[in-house]
Amino acid sequence: MSRKIIITIDGWSSCGKSTLAKQLAKSLGYVYVDSGAMYRAITLYFLRNHVDWTDKKEVKKALGEIILDFHFNPKTENSEMYLNDENVEYVIRDLVIAEKVSDVAAIKEVREYAVAQQQNMGKKKGIVMDGRDIGTVVFPKAELKIFMTADNAVRVERRFKELYEKNPNVSIEEVKNNLEMRDYIDSHREVSPLRQAEDAQVLDNTNVSEEQQLKIALEWAMTKIKK
Ligand code: DC
Repeated sequence: MSRKIIITIDGWSSCGKSTLAKQLAKSLGYVYVDSGAMYRAITLYFLRNHVDWTDKKEVKKALGEIILDFHFNPKTENSEMYLNDENVEYVIRDLVIAEKVSDVAAIKEVREYAVAQQQNMGKKKGIVMDGRDIGTVVFPKAELKIFMTADNAVRVERRFKELYEKNPNVSIEEVKNNLEMRDYIDSHREVSPLRQAEDAQVLDNTNVSEEQQLKIALEWAMTKIKK
């Protein structure tokens, strides 16, 4: 049997990280973990329970009340996010959550809470995890680190299409502003900001199809697996 590795995929919002991560995990028979979903689920809990996240005490108390899990859904072939036993996979994709999640993800206590769980999930290897700090902070020793990027206009267009399918009232301006805001906060925050790991392989998918990007990433993965 070939050895199992850890694959990290980091990059800007709406670069197609999760699409690639899911396909890569499926092709290799690995577990896929969407770390952003965890920050989104925490944000949902904070909003629903009116947690004042500028107050450290309130944040710590709230984190103690949260249980996050991923359950594989064979129908959607996706591992879905559960918050205290409730499937929140779809609600956490809402723009209301997207507008607040970068602020919540910048809180030190929130990151410590999420990172500890993410590291635990990688103990057995055979995992593909996507996010912003996976190759730099969560798994700095990962065998394969991919950093994804794409032109801003292409990212806005992709995200708009995705959100428009669920909510035709969404405007392209709104989507553009949200992406720019998240990129700014994610890359400028004090605790583990988004940055490219020195040993990451860069994948710019502006003009690359999903099939092509999977082929490239699989080749990179096989090189590391065979080592
Ligand atoms: O990947 P996403 O868009 O679902 O992520 C939602 C937010 O969570 C994003 O704005 C940044 C934050 N995030 C993070 O800070 N660290 C991660 N590892 C993953 C996501």
